[in-house]
Amino acid sequence: MSEGRGQWGSRLSFVLAAAGSAVGLGNLWKFPYITGMNGGGAFVLIYLVCILLIGLPIMIGEVLLGRMSQSSVVGTFSKLSGGKPTPWVGVGWLGVATGVVILSYYSVVAGWSLHYVWLALSGGLSLAQPEAFGELFNATYTDPGINLRYHTIFMGLTAMIVLGGIQGGVERAARVLMPVLLLMMAALLAYSTTLEGFGRAVDFVFGFHVESITGEAVLEALGHSFFTLSLGMGAMLTYGSYLSRKDDVIAVSLATTALDTLVALMACLVLFPITFSAGMEAANGPGLVFINMPLAFSGLPGGQLWSVAFFIPLFFAALSSGISLLEVAAAYFIDERGWSRRKAVLLTTSVIFALGVPSALSGSDNMVFGAGIHWIGERNWFDTFDYLASNWMLPLGGLGIAGFAAWRLGGKAREASFRAGSRLGSLPGVYLAWLQLLRYAVPLAIVIVMLHALGVL
Ligand code: PFF
Repeated sequence: MSEGRGQWGSRLSFVLAAAGSAVGLGNLWKFPYITGMNGGGAFVLIYLVCILLIGLPIMIGEVLLGRMSQSSVVGTFSKLSGGKPTPWVGVGWLGVATGVVILSYYSVVAGWSLHYVWLALSGGLSLAQPEAFGELFNATYTDPGINLRYHTIFMGLTAMIVLGGIQGGVERAARVLMPVLLLMMAALLAYSTTLEGFGRAVDFVFGFHVESITGEAVLEALGHSFFTLSLGMGAMLTYGSYLSRKDDVIAVSLATTALDTLVALMACLVLFPITFSAGMEAANGPGLVFINMPLAFSGLPGGQLWSVAFFIPLFFAALSSGISLLEVAAAYFIDERGWSRRKAVLLTTSVIFALGVPSALSGSDNMVFGAGIHWIGERNWFDTFDYLASNWMLPLGGLGIAGFAAWRLGGKAREASFRAGSRLGSLPGVYLAWLQLLRYAVPLAIVIVMLHALGVL
């Protein structure tokens, strides 16, 4: 029964764990770099609209479904369909597959952050020439040995925590990792405001530069709003399944969404002032945090310590997200197949590790998976996985989750569950507004953006 599956110790634990899942490389590595590549302000605005009108309603839907079913993402769809065979289960399958795909390359980027912690501690970041930071990142990215080693370490650590179970592993880790991260980011932000590039950075992030809006940019903003909030694959649903029926779904969803958005904007306001003050480009691509941050720190007294202070939280943020990615797949085998947590974690970790090897080799000169080999468009394996997972699989999963919660779920049970334990959810109009968004606005927006990206619209 539900008690045997594990439960959060308190509501705060859920928020910390859910925020731990949401806040990750997506906020600190990916969001600043895609904002830079997409010209800043307009992209940020589209992203914020996606978060509010699409992300938040789906977040509430996912947590709600999880709490109602007290099951993994696959079990949820069959259980809430009255236990009968239903095609909706496919949405659950897609979720498990998406988690596996994302974690396989996520682990490689997380590995870079650990490598940079090591570099900072061992003096490897005290470089004299600014160009040397770009070269160092390039050397990291292209080195198969470094990538494979850290991919192995990250997957190992993630598996160890997930093996510890809900309260013993996931929750205990999140309680430490999230507050540390927030403190570090606040300190770095305080520093960034003193830089001369701060004003220009604010204009870059919040100024509306309409010329940079393209169909691909909108697809990317939509996809990223799913990625950053851990939506569309059942991570929030799985975490929601460890909530008790008394917990306030609306409040925890709001808190998680707000925290995630806060950290993403903070990351931009830390990174771009540094970038501009150093006379560097915003559109620096995936190397942005790994090149610009240590370069900026190198000019400060105790520069290497600043790098440690940055890359450790980055790694922690990645770890608490990696945990949730693995938990989705593991929970499926535990709940649906009756496997022990140990067997489920070991099997899923092995598969994800193997699938990540090509991503770890994507920057190298490997003949099969290396930098020169293109899979979709100009993308190497790593970029192809990221593109497929964030821009297509997550929004598609989100469409399925929204569709199920809004159209398939019994209306009475849904409404009762929405209001249960929630003062906000019981305010007049709130439930209806959420339902209408989930019924019409969310599916319509996802379908339009996808058709547009496919060139059909
Ligand atoms: N939200 C995480 C991030 O922003 O880094 C990534 C992620 C975690 C995506 C869990 C999806 C997920 F289910």
